[in-house]
Formats: sequence, structure tokens, C-alpha cells
Amino acid sequence: MKVHLICFSPGGTTKRTVRNIAEGMGDVEVIEHDMLIQENRKKKYNFKSDDLVILGMMTSTKLFGVPEEIFNSIQGHNTPIVGIVLYGNGYYGKTLIYMKREVESRGFKMVGAGAFIGQHTFADKIATGRPDAKDKDIQLRFGKNIYEKIFINKDFSLKSKLKTGWPKNDTFSSVKCALISALPGYGAKMPYTWNELSINDNCISCKKCEKHCPVGAIHISTRSFDRKKCLCCYGCANVCPKKAIKLVNPTLINIMKKVETTRTERREPEVFL
Ligand SMILES: Cc1cc2nc3c(=O)[nH]c(=O)nc-3n(C[C@H](O)[C@H](O)[C@H](O)COP(=O)(O)O)c2cc1C
Repeated sequence: MKVHLICFSPGGTTKRTVRNIAEGMGDVEVIEHDMLIQENRKKKYNFKSDDLVILGMMTSTKLFGVPEEIFNSIQGHNTPIVGIVLYGNGYYGKTLIYMKREVESRGFKMVGAGAFIGQHTFADKIATGRPDAKDKDIQLRFGKNIYEKIFINKDFSLKSKLKTGWPKNDTFSSVKCALISALPGYGAKMPYTWNELSINDNCISCKKCEKHCPVGAIHISTRSFDRKKCLCCYGCANVCPKKAIKLVNPTLINIMKKVETTRTERREPEVFL
């Protein structure tokens, strides 16, 4: 049985999480498919019943980024899949439920799931350093439990009921969640007017940001970016070795200042088997 890690992780916390889960499984063959890479999303991956897929996506109330392209590039054939969502200590909404529905309509069987916390993409004061050592322990144990369930006991059922994760004691986020949840679809997009980046003179033109951008929106030769293409995932800024890229939209900056004060209480991972 091969273990396939499929993830979309602009800030790297989703990738770290699925890797930790795979590490917890012990001595298994692991193959990674990075869905930040546009060419990978154009491929068609056919998985067999003796493969195990771990699918990791980040969330913004709904599934964030290019979830539709990812779902459409994968096809299972009675293939067991573990669904993982990452969120920034706020809420993950119905994302696990959406993910289950989408993958099961494409030939997969969800055998496990988890909602984990990652340092907030825009705000390093929220969930700083997560996944941390405590999270990693949980992720390793979760991987071990999946291994025992699937590889040893050949148990392909999902006994736990998936939960939803909503904001706590945070009026702004509660209103935002209710509005986004009422919109049709399982994916969330930021208003493109919020996509405002500045590239300052610390830039050394290494082009790491260009390679990392999931939609080819940033062009270092002209120090510009395509506002309409940009997903607002902030992967370019997170990968920049000189911290030369900054988010400068005042609305988004104000929102982040507000949520920094409401997301201080530590949330813990939830796993479903
Ligand atoms: C545009 C955007 C919107 C986000 N919205 C939320 C949110 O609504 N709730 C939350 O808890 N975290 C939110 N986050 C934080 C990310 O879900 C979180 O930091 C996650 O760990 C990022 O995964 P990555 O490091 O793999 O990219 C948002 C991040 C981005 C980029």
C-alpha cells in the first residue's frame, strides 16, 4: 500500500501536518503531490483501492485556494482517503463535510479526518509556531492510528461523525462566517480588491515567490502582480527569504488587527476515525 500526500499549502502548515501524519504511520512508502504547482493540478491522478491518500487543504471558512481544480484532478477507485483541514485558530466551518462529499463522489472512501491548527498566514501573533510539538504528537499518534486501522485491521469505515467548527466569542467572525456559509459552493475567495501587495527594495530577485505562487500572479522582473489572478494566499510573502513582500490593503490589515485580539484562546486539533 502506497501513501499519497496531496496538499495545497501556501504557508507550509498543511504540508507539515500531512507529513507528520505520514511519519506517524512508520515505515510506509510515501509519495507527495504538491498542488501549489499548477501543472500538477492539470494532471489526472488515478488511485487504486490499495493506495491510501491523505488530502490536506487550508481553510477560510470554506475550502480555500483552488479546491475545485484539486478535486477534479483526483479519481479514486474505492480508494481510502484521510481528509485534513488547517485553520488559523479561528474556525474550519463545514470544510471536512464538504471535502467528504466531494471526494466520495469521485470514487474515494473517507476513512479518517482531522481539523488542525496552523499559524495564521497573515498574522504571526495568531497560533504562533503551530503546528508545535504538542500538535506534532497528536499528528504522529493520528498517523499511527490510521496505520493500524487501514493497514493492519483493514477497517475502511468512518465511525466518528464529522463535526463543524465555528467562531467562539467573536461577533465579527460569526457574522462573516454566516455570510460566507450562506453563499453557494464549498470554496471561498477573497474580494480581489483586498489583493494588494508591496514588493520593497529588500527583494533580491531570487524569484522564489514566482515559483511558489499557485496561480502565476507575481512577476519579479517588473516587480508587479496580477491583482485579479492573485488568490490572496500570501504564499509569496511567506516564502520570501528577505521578507520583501507585504500585504498593504488597509481593510485586510484592520480585520487582522481585530482578529488578533479575539483568537487568543488556544484551540486543539480534532480527529475523526
Ligand atoms: C485568505 C485567508 C483567509 C483565512 N481565513 C481563515 C479563517 O476564516 N479562519 C481561520 O481560522 N483561519 C483562516 N486563515 C488561516 C489559515 O487557514 C491557516 O493559517 C492555515 O494554517 C494556512 O495553511 P498553510 O500554511 O498550509 O497555507 C486564512 C488564511 C488566508 C490566507
